[in-house]
Amino acid sequence: MTMVPGNWYAVAAEHDVPAGHIYRTALGGNDQAIRELAIWRASDGAVQVWEDRCPHRGVRFSLGEVVGDELRCQYHAWRFAKGGACTFIPAQPDMKVPGSIHAKAWPVAVSAGLIWTGVDPVGEPPVLGEGAAIRAVPVARPLAEVETALAQADLPGLALTLQPLGDTETIVRGLVANGDCAAADRALAALRRQLECVA
Ligand code: FES
Repeated sequence: MTMVPGNWYAVAAEHDVPAGHIYRTALGGNDQAIRELAIWRASDGAVQVWEDRCPHRGVRFSLGEVVGDELRCQYHAWRFAKGGACTFIPAQPDMKVPGSIHAKAWPVAVSAGLIWTGVDPVGEPPVLGEGAAIRAVPVARPLAEVETALAQADLPGLALTLQPLGDTETIVRGLVANGDCAAADRALAALRRQLECVA
């Protein structure tokens, strides 16, 4: 079993975000404010992790639509390019959009089938096992309790990452090094029962 500390957090599997799709999730807790995130993939395959809030009126980007290599907000159809710059405002089609209009884009890295981000990550995200199958289970317990349980657990063949979702929920993702996905599913389900039963 491999714990993954540091400022990079896996917030989705690559297969959660095919080209042209937006995936809604969050990151936070553990004494940090929770941030809602919109993860989207442009038609050229590039992945973006943005705060899920349009800078215009605050509507969730995750309600919008990917159009080619841009994301279009659902409310007033402003368009935003990779990196977050607003490129087009339909109500003022001839206006050069000020550079100050910008989605909040987070650092992003893709590694071992996982999409990683963080508030202030350092270096590169960990490499846990290229090509391994990925399993995920939500656990209704805070990050610290899950970390403590995992430190005492015997989960052979699984490299684990944790995504805190506020103060009461954590997503546990396991990369299955030995290919035995059924065993991994059973182990993660047992871990979840153990943690939630003692709550
Ligand atoms: S709220 Fe997004 S374009 Fe207006």
